[in-house]
Amino acid sequence: MLSLVDVYAGYGEGLVLKGLSLEVRERQVVALLGRNGAGKTTTMRAIMGLLPIQRGEITWRGEPIHRLQPHEISRRGIALVPQGRRIFPSLTVTENLLIAAREAGRHRRGRERPAGSGWTLERIYELFPVLRERGTIGGTRLSGGEQQMLAIARALMTQPDLLLCDEPSEGLAPIMVERVAGVLKTLKESGLAILLVEQNLEVALALADYVYIIDDGRVVYQGLPGELARDEAAQVRFLGASA
Ligand SMILES: Nc1ncnc2c1ncn2[C@@H]1O[C@H](COP(=O)(O)OP(=O)(O)OP(=O)(O)O)[C@@H](O)[C@H]1O
Ligand SMILES: [Mg+2]
Repeated sequence: MLSLVDVYAGYGEGLVLKGLSLEVRERQVVALLGRNGAGKTTTMRAIMGLLPIQRGEITWRGEPIHRLQPHEISRRGIALVPQGRRIFPSLTVTENLLIAAREAGRHRRGRERPAGSGWTLERIYELFPVLRERGTIGGTRLSGGEQQMLAIARALMTQPDLLLCDEPSEGLAPIMVERVAGVLKTLKESGLAILLVEQNLEVALALADYVYIIDDGRVVYQGLPGELARDEAAQVRFLGASA
């Protein structure tokens, strides 16, 4: 579905991604792990067209997308939930959602791909009851967990087939981490593919069908989540985790 082959990218002179290759298949959750500064967010930004790549190829359903604008990538069915959430603080919950839907609709006009996954405000509120309750509340008055729900909901309003989710549990209380993980599980069961960057190894391994660990802009480990769960040496070596 999505494939990165030997991707090099960075900021200015400095390379961050140094020959990164990975793949996400239909309906899969793929975890992208690695230490701080390994290049996880940079990978997401490169896929989304927010950062030009200097070498290599990113293809989506067989078509190269690495020279497209972010809105063109979005309308092909890829959405990003950015690290740190980045919701519009001055807008209410509902306004945040409707703006995302309107932006996606504006760019989708006259294109071939229909709004396949069919996310409406009503369906969003069924998945995230808390957002219905908080509908008229300004974005900054939401808790961290509620903001994360809103950031995911906003991405869904663009009707993605692949969700890029960058550290959704970062900074959340354990109960909210569980709820966010529950939402991602529901989305996975609905058939959405997810590329998940996650520091919480337990959450990542519970959701993922496949795991990549990157270090210094390259894949240093890949395998099934069960394999990594049993491989404490790899966890310590690549993630610095004492299991
Ligand atoms: N806008 C930027 N300009 C210059 N360098 C950057 C920029 N953003 C990130 N970097 C550098 O690129 C490298 C990779 O950063 P990136 O954000 O991709 O890491 P990450 O794996 O997402 O880390 P974290 O776990 O802390 O989120 C780091 O060395 C970082 O300092
Ligand atoms: Mg990051």
